[in-house]
Amino acid sequence: MYLNNSWYVAATSNELAGGNIVARTILGQKIALFRTESGRYAAVRDACIHRQAPLSLGHVVGETVQCRYHGARFGSDGRCTHVPGQDAISPKAKVQSFPVLERHGYIWIWMGDQELSEDESTIPKNLSLIDAQPGMRSCSGMFESMRANYRLLNDNLFDITHAEFVHPESFGGEEVRFYRNARPGSEPIDRGLTYEVKERSIHFRTHADSLGDEGAPLWRIMMAQARNIESWTGPLDFTMEVSWQAPCYTSFHIYLRPAGQPDAQPVEFHDFHAATPETAHSSHYFYTVGINYGDEGTLSHLAEETRNVFKQDIVLLEAQQATIGDLDVLSVPHASFNGDRLQLEGRKILDTLINKERQAKSIAQEI
Ligand code: FES
Ligand SMILES: [Fe+2]
Repeated sequence: MYLNNSWYVAATSNELAGGNIVARTILGQKIALFRTESGRYAAVRDACIHRQAPLSLGHVVGETVQCRYHGARFGSDGRCTHVPGQDAISPKAKVQSFPVLERHGYIWIWMGDQELSEDESTIPKNLSLIDAQPGMRSCSGMFESMRANYRLLNDNLFDITHAEFVHPESFGGEEVRFYRNARPGSEPIDRGLTYEVKERSIHFRTHADSLGDEGAPLWRIMMAQARNIESWTGPLDFTMEVSWQAPCYTSFHIYLRPAGQPDAQPVEFHDFHAATPETAHSSHYFYTVGINYGDEGTLSHLAEETRNVFKQDIVLLEAQQATIGDLDVLSVPHASFNGDRLQLEGRKILDTLINKERQAKSIAQEI
């Protein structure tokens, strides 16, 4: 079950450069994504109306995509504009098209009711923290195909207690244990985690004054990188703010300062995760990493390290999916631990939104 009325990341902007056509299955539907010569982005069903050849095998010609088989052309609205050797084209000759737009270096697609697509509120706003902040360097366009349902990634990013076991050399430190003491609230508390649940999102934060060697190794590596020194051995003040937005967006914002220096310029690490459903058993995992220090070399090194960390997660998510098989991810009998509070809140929000959408659809059909 998918939430249809939402913008989803379909591709990175770079993927559509130079007339490249991307074939991608999104929410179970085969889509061809392309950019016309004038720069307009387009998404159409990846099957020609003539004999179902995938349009993604064709070419961009002017403002159209041309089918590779018999040369029919379709505009960004899906309308057939040209059939070789034929003057009259039925106005009904049309391949299904989908609204698309470009924001924050990604191409977003709307798979739901088209009249609702003007509402851009389902595109996470805090992405601009990464791509529009002065002094912030970001590495976007990172992408993995994942043989796991997107909700397993939601779960994973809600429950960072796993970092102690899966990422001990990077993100795994004492601060992830604070998740087990999550409590409602909006004020940060030392060595605790507070969270707010909204209609479509959850926001939570954790803080630790004077975090020493018990903290995640990555924070000390970043402090050393930012100061261009061999290693950072002192305590640091750690703040992490996390936002999850339905159906599949999570962003982490981490601020590190030398302990006891609240006015010091923080070393910042931001990342954004989007898990676009491909099928019930697979997802497209897009992510962006940003830092406010170092140079391009520092960023690409950190991005590579981060990629390796996420791959550690993907191994587990794919193994979970293999165990779950064709069952619904959420209906599999399971135990819950203290660290699962946020995860369960997130599942509830998404279930509510999906159910509301289904009910609205069935009422509309009855009318
Ligand atoms: S299959 Fe596309 S033009 Fe024939
Ligand atoms: Fe992880």
